[in-house]
Amino acid sequence: MQRTEPILFKIYPKLKEKVPWIPLLTNTPTPVERLNKLEQHFYLTSGQIYIKRDDLSHHIYGGNKLRKFEFIFGDVVKKKKKGIITFGGFGTNHGLACAIMCKELDLPLRCDIFLFSQPITWHVQRSLLLFDYFGAKFHPVGSDITTFIKTLLFQIRKPKYYFMLPGGSPLFGFGTSLGTLGFINAAFELKEQIDRNQIPEPDEIFIAGASTGSSAGLIAGCKLSGLNSKINVVAVYTNMTANPSTVTRNANKAIKFLHKRDTEIPRIKISENDFDFIRGYLGSGYGIKTIKSQNAVDSIYELEGKDKGFHLDTTYTGKAMAAMFDYLADRENKDRKVLFWNTYNSNNLDSYLKETDFNYKRLPKKIHKIFESRKFQCWQITNCPEKIRNNCAAYFNHEYRFWKITDCSLEENEREKAYSLLNNAIKLEDN
Ligand SMILES: Cc1ncc(COP(=O)(O)O)c(C=O)c1O
Repeated sequence: MQRTEPILFKIYPKLKEKVPWIPLLTNTPTPVERLNKLEQHFYLTSGQIYIKRDDLSHHIYGGNKLRKFEFIFGDVVKKKKKGIITFGGFGTNHGLACAIMCKELDLPLRCDIFLFSQPITWHVQRSLLLFDYFGAKFHPVGSDITTFIKTLLFQIRKPKYYFMLPGGSPLFGFGTSLGTLGFINAAFELKEQIDRNQIPEPDEIFIAGASTGSSAGLIAGCKLSGLNSKINVVAVYTNMTANPSTVTRNANKAIKFLHKRDTEIPRIKISENDFDFIRGYLGSGYGIKTIKSQNAVDSIYELEGKDKGFHLDTTYTGKAMAAMFDYLADRENKDRKVLFWNTYNSNNLDSYLKETDFNYKRLPKKIHKIFESRKFQCWQITNCPEKIRNNCAAYFNHEYRFWKITDCSLEENEREKAYSLLNNAIKLEDN
């Protein structure tokens, strides 16, 4: 397994002494790949499309989180904390990544995740089972604000625990910039790949923005490393955190943090002119699918993901990709060099999920209704016999539309029943 020191430490060696860091990523630099079929799909003239495969950043759980965690967990270890407290939506990828890393690190490190409501989907049901599988204790609360308050109160009672803000980014200007450094480093990593001619310098980079640590880091990192690519931050969370002033504040806070530790790092200023902030793809709320995001997830999978081994999600990357699709559809952009930053894990977690045996009764009683009131999988709806479902690729698959995955061997009338119930479930989510 390949574990590499941050490029930032090589360029600015003084940081090594002053910035906490531990190795977590197991596949850096993450690959950059050209998306030829997508180029043909959009009839690009001299334009080119690439993807940054952060989905492969770790052999168990890839995505954007671990870039931030290398620095944040470095601080956790330095401060000899006994556990991590964090919070997010019911299906939080951040929480799952945290649970997995707490288990992976050879330390007795507890993980407590406080959860706020989001629309119930198969992704949410999976995440809850996986938090438990990877040993995290979770606390379902309610709205995001009450969850935040409960998390804070819990922290006061547990001073030996490290409080990590959602998404590993500062919130309302408070909290550490360590997570953002992961993405400043990521920009330097991209710069190296450009210098090695693995990819031309992109004109545009598209990335999803929620807590905005990832995008803010990338914007700061591009400016520090001399890249001229324009970052397009696609809002996938509400205005509470996903807004241009949060991005600017997070970027400047991280630059200040670095400059304080090594004055060779220029104290540059990021302004709202340094990036584009794109609204209009969130839909009716966080975690709620839009038709555009589902279409982007499906099209990119058919065109590229199936062969290259990645799929997007409808909460974050699907919405960012939908914005990129609209950009590419514009006649004026057919000659642009565009990079999509894939922040979503693409490793298969289905095998872990199978081990849970879908035993949600192990989880806190309060949330059993999440599993009982909504059914998304064909086998949940039809009570598919074990003999059939155990051999079926749709069983526990991350995708819940079984006709996308496999031919169903149920009796035709049963299959039809499942199909129409699932169609209704999907419609419910779309609304
Ligand atoms: C898959 C995925 N992409 C993008 C993001 C957004 O990253 P950030 O919170 O740094 O804006 C998240 C955050 O949870 C995520 O899970």
